[in-house]
Amino acid sequence: MELWAHRGSGKGALENTLKGFEIAFNAGFKAVEFDVMLTADGAPMIHHDWVMGRCARSIDPAIASTDVLTRFDSLCARDLRHFSVQGEPIPSLAQTIDFCLKHGMRANVELKATHPANAIALGRAVLAVIEELPLDAQEHIRSNWVFSSFYHASLLPLQGFDLALLYEQLPDNWVLHADALQASAIHLHFSGAEPTALRRIHTTGRVVRVYTVNDAEQAKTLQALGVKGLFTDRMTLAAAY
Ligand code: G3P
Ligand code: MG
Repeated sequence: MELWAHRGSGKGALENTLKGFEIAFNAGFKAVEFDVMLTADGAPMIHHDWVMGRCARSIDPAIASTDVLTRFDSLCARDLRHFSVQGEPIPSLAQTIDFCLKHGMRANVELKATHPANAIALGRAVLAVIEELPLDAQEHIRSNWVFSSFYHASLLPLQGFDLALLYEQLPDNWVLHADALQASAIHLHFSGAEPTALRRIHTTGRVVRVYTVNDAEQAKTLQALGVKGLFTDRMTLAAAY
């Protein structure tokens, strides 16, 4: 079964940082999931939250208390230099792709639009970064990586890549969306990964990956139900697979 290091080193310390990806690599993970969002000036950067303050704090402690009032997408890429995730910078998508390619890590790029109006722009920005890469790297990404989103419009510019639709629970009309985007996979929250939903997806020939699974017993149960991949915060789980 595929085991994906969720946000690199897992939710919490050093999530979505190059140092976090290194921790996952050193723990034995061959695949990593990370979140990409657009800054105010359209730069794709690796971050999870819409507001600052939980994982990225201002490097100036005097103003860190106001971080929770600052939206990620109100900041330009250069402003992000004034924030740190426990001492680590917020990486760009280009830096993160470079890390994964150099370490031979497979990636699930989760596109997080901060507003419906910028959903397609995010997909286009991700594509533009990939198109800057040498052709063999582009081909490698096309054949091995997965691009997912709760905001399906973000995946439209990435047709031809391996696409996954993200849901908490499987909605009734999921297959219309999956067919329209030619998505090969559904990524579900564990609470939605019950046998009926899994059967519905599997009968269409699509694969299922489940987030976020930190319990070894739960991982075994999902594996027995045919789940292809799990996203986990638990770095020690890599050794078991
Ligand atoms: O991509 C799977 C999982 O990361 C989705 O939830 O909120 O951790 O990005 P979240
Ligand atoms: Mg994510």
